[in-house]
Amino acid sequence: MSALKPVVTHFFDEPTNTYSYVVKDPNSSHCAIVDSVLDFDYAAGRTSTESAERILKFIKDNHLTVDWILETHVHADHLSAAPFLKEHTGAQLGIGEHIKTVQETFGKAFNEGTEFQRDGSQFDHLFADGDTFSIGELQAQVLHTPGHTPACLTYVIGDAAFVGDTLFMPDYGTARCDFPGGDARTLYRSIQKVFALPDQTRLFMCHDYKAPDRDEYAFETTVAEEKQNNVHVGGGTTEDEFVKMRTERDATLNMPRLILPSVQINMRAGHLPQPENNGQRYLKLPLNLF
Ligand SMILES: [Fe+2]
Repeated sequence: MSALKPVVTHFFDEPTNTYSYVVKDPNSSHCAIVDSVLDFDYAAGRTSTESAERILKFIKDNHLTVDWILETHVHADHLSAAPFLKEHTGAQLGIGEHIKTVQETFGKAFNEGTEFQRDGSQFDHLFADGDTFSIGELQAQVLHTPGHTPACLTYVIGDAAFVGDTLFMPDYGTARCDFPGGDARTLYRSIQKVFALPDQTRLFMCHDYKAPDRDEYAFETTVAEEKQNNVHVGGGTTEDEFVKMRTERDATLNMPRLILPSVQINMRAGHLPQPENNGQRYLKLPLNLF
């Protein structure tokens, strides 16, 4: 049986190099939104919804019904617009069940009080490895693909897979594994799960940063392409070779510009922290911690 081919529309946020997607059932108006972006002016501490409004306009113009708002993981480089999209679509918000581990880690790091629940209850649905769900007639399956973070998922929807930050385009490689709870060996094993999908499976990236010999952004490749050509993990790279390369490379990387605001908001499913007694909401800036 060949998998249905979802209609995939991409939305690129250049300030954070993030791709968001609308994934539509070819036989109905049902769709899902994957990895949305809430715009953030760091210097001003101001959020805005232009990126998310572009997605909503597309949904409205095409008369689509949003069944799911999906997060591949707690992003460290952009804020999620999930609450805004949920409010306007009524869709369910899903993420991996290991979000609880991520909430535990960052709840501690940011010294959150007991009002910050670490049970994933800010989300509507917590997916486990192997779970299935549907988008109209489209069948979707969840792969737990940790390594970049403990909660990372790959959503396999029809003949397409949304890999989050497991793989980047073949000429750019793989995601870093040095955030709390990340692990290069685990990422290698997760990537093998993606490589076990049919060769022609379309892979959609969460990020692109161009590559040394490429001037255009790119977001789509295939399992066959990645297996053969991925500069970090393709062409039969062994687990030990990968772990050595990834660990050495991670030691040279700076923290993403938006990591501190991103994790504080994304661990709350995209909600801003509760206001203090003057009615103002604040983010914390832990010093010399990360
Ligand atoms: Fe990420």
